[in-house]
Amino acid sequence: MTIIVTGGAGFIGSNFIFHMLGKYPDYRIVCLDKLTYAGNLSTLSPVMDNPNFRFVKLDICDREGVYKLFEEEHPGMVVNFAAESHVDRSIENPEVFLQTNILGTQVLMDACRKYGITRYHQVSTDEVYGDLPLDRPDLFFTEETPIHTSSPYSSSKAGADLLVLAYHRTYGLPVTISRCSNNYGPYHFPEKLIPLMIANALNDKPLPVYGKGENVRDWLYVEDHCKAIDLILHKGRVGEVYNIGGHNEMRNIDIVKIICKALGKPESLITFVTDRKGHDMRYAIDPTKIHSELGWLPETKFADGIQKTIAWYLDNRQWWETIISGEYQNYYEKMYGNR
Ligand code: NAD
Ligand code: TYD
Repeated sequence: MTIIVTGGAGFIGSNFIFHMLGKYPDYRIVCLDKLTYAGNLSTLSPVMDNPNFRFVKLDICDREGVYKLFEEEHPGMVVNFAAESHVDRSIENPEVFLQTNILGTQVLMDACRKYGITRYHQVSTDEVYGDLPLDRPDLFFTEETPIHTSSPYSSSKAGADLLVLAYHRTYGLPVTISRCSNNYGPYHFPEKLIPLMIANALNDKPLPVYGKGENVRDWLYVEDHCKAIDLILHKGRVGEVYNIGGHNEMRNIDIVKIICKALGKPESLITFVTDRKGHDMRYAIDPTKIHSELGWLPETKFADGIQKTIAWYLDNRQWWETIISGEYQNYYEKMYGNR
């Protein structure tokens, strides 16, 4: 079995590649990644010499390049992680989000139709459902919750999801979609909440919390997400959407305080800054379908996962320090300089 994994030099894709190469010694994994600012080839160095692994630098929007790769590799499955993934960047510049997230998905699925595959899996997000109010803790996103997006990012992911389902209905493409809640863990790019707060705290820099920090996210350890996708690929029903989340809702401010405590840093580093435009209040997944159909349950409790994550950032300073010493500084100044 050859699987093309797109976006494998990013956060979740790289963790997925490690999981698959470790679990299936007979599988060949071909990683296709454009290496945008969010892609990091050094992340994949532990598997670069694995004979079952190949890395190809390629844009999923490059139709000719993608078709050529399919001709060379004859993949049985494609798992599409490649995306522009940061809400704040999508608010600044939506266009590349529409290109990669929607048109790139189309190119991949056209290749799947042309060359034939047994499964195309789209890695999507709970953000396609919009948000939930803080005063209704009884409400959760199910697979039947209507699509109702807030940001250019979530709109582009929703557009891709609709296209994936259309390719299934119109052309019979064997697709599945997973919609996961917020992930955390090793190799998370330090522009996202948890790694940004860890890196800033370690450097005794202010911890910029948007608004009042009351927004709630449903956090899942990245390995649990990877295991869920593995299950969907092997046992999930074609044409179906599966929500992935572990009933682990946390307010942003509480996460930042946990990080301060774990690192022995004062909470006085916390700085409340101007809120994100259109900021979603609460995400919360109902994972009943994936649990009852496929037996998936999250294995890592947040209390353990966050300590493992913090330990990883302490042990791998070079990985994130290299990132934040480059172009990231301009990004940081632009996003937080006058906030
Ligand atoms: P990431 O930003 O860390 O990584 C994205 C990867 O895609 C990078 O390696 C980048 O180089 C690559 N990429 C971007 N544009 C490309 C293109 N045009 N062609 C080829 N490669 C390209 O993102 P992530 O957090 O690992 O997210 C992966 C997927 O999971 C995304 O589709 C995202 O929407 C989804 N998701 C993420 C989360 C989360 O909490 N991070 C939660 C649910 C779903
Ligand atoms: P983020 O990690 O960008 O994920 P998403 O927006 O996809 O959920 O942000 C998580 C939450 O943390 C979100 O409510 C915005 C908030 N946040 C901050 O308060 N400060 C920050 O510097 C960042 C990056 C995020």
